[in-house]
Amino acid sequence: MRRPDAYFATVARGLETLAAEELRSLGAGAVKLQFAGVAFEGDLELLYRVNLWSRLIYRVLVPLAVLEAESAQSLYQGVHTLDWSPYLQPDQTFAVVCSGKNAQLNHSHFTALQVKNAIVDQQRRQFGRRSSINTENPDLVVNAHIQDNQCQLSLDSSGFSLHRRGYRPALGQAPLKETLAAALLGLAEWRPHIPLYDPLCGSGSFLLEAGLQALHIAPGKFQRRFAFQSWPDYDPDLWRHLRQEAEAGELTQAPAPLWGSDENVETLEQAQSNAQAAGLGEQIYFFSESLNQIAPPTPEGYLICNPPYGKRLGNAEDLGDFYRQLGDIFKQRFKGWTAFVLSGNPELTKCIGLRPARRFPVFNGALPCTFLKYELY
Ligand SMILES: C[S@@+](CC[C@H](N)C(=O)[O-])C[C@H]1O[C@@H](n2cnc3c(N)ncnc32)[C@H](O)[C@@H]1O
Repeated sequence: MRRPDAYFATVARGLETLAAEELRSLGAGAVKLQFAGVAFEGDLELLYRVNLWSRLIYRVLVPLAVLEAESAQSLYQGVHTLDWSPYLQPDQTFAVVCSGKNAQLNHSHFTALQVKNAIVDQQRRQFGRRSSINTENPDLVVNAHIQDNQCQLSLDSSGFSLHRRGYRPALGQAPLKETLAAALLGLAEWRPHIPLYDPLCGSGSFLLEAGLQALHIAPGKFQRRFAFQSWPDYDPDLWRHLRQEAEAGELTQAPAPLWGSDENVETLEQAQSNAQAAGLGEQIYFFSESLNQIAPPTPEGYLICNPPYGKRLGNAEDLGDFYRQLGDIFKQRFKGWTAFVLSGNPELTKCIGLRPARRFPVFNGALPCTFLKYELY
């Protein structure tokens, strides 16, 4: 039997455990948690399946080699000694994405340049021609991760960050990454039969991710092309089969209602157009409402929101009253509900004035945040 291939999924730090669970549920074997990533094993079908179905991870990398990278020269030499012809022909384009650093390689742009030069110099010698760089839509994405004096070199099977689902033309103010919105729904243990309301919905990230889950829509279905589709071992029949299987399993009606409101009408229009683009136009009910006017649309459900917290929207000093009002509304109007708040400011969180039943530390980009759960009774 063919040995399973080794893969590495990159994920936001703090979400490794959730991502590992998701990968196992998709069929991954030998799952191992690492910092901001999860190593796993599987076949080509699993690689395609993870790209199509993962709601939490950024990219699936296929590790190629671990190289010495004490200096720019040693990295160049290491990359140059690998044979790139099985992966890249001179008429194909490529891009290099770098992360991590050490004392000598401390700028990702500089590191990427060493990798790129080593590859094109080899091509010039071998073919007399070289591949062009294309950062927008390359045929091959090479990923270089520097840690200590080593470089983990991988091919990126996704080619772009999977948090960009491809359905979202319109961004509101301070939108959450789709991967984070999906992860927070997971931490909340929201399930599609539970009514869901986001009263500060902005561009609708929570509701869009919830809608995709409720209708069993594969989050990768909106992507035009994944990087693995340019690889020599690309199996179009297998890919077509997985896509058809996904489409056949889609539902037409969410089991429970999804509501979103916001005071900003323009943002709501964006949320609505995102929902249309994702095929969820009929599933999510968006309406314009100011926070102080909101009311529970059903006796029970989950309320989830990401209020402004000063860093990206509004001014932290003015927001204390806003958070106090949020707590009062939870207490007075939402008895029987469970509320979840993503907050990036502990002082503002205290103004809610309720004791959280749980707190989950998470990162919103580089910003340390807390995701809080309140049982309202
Ligand atoms: C941080 S954003 C939410 C982003 C959203 N989770 C997303 O992913 O797009 C906060 C939202 O709260 C809304 N908002 C602020 N004050 C409000 C109020 N008093 N009533 C209703 N909405 C309000 C803003 O218009 C903004 O869309």
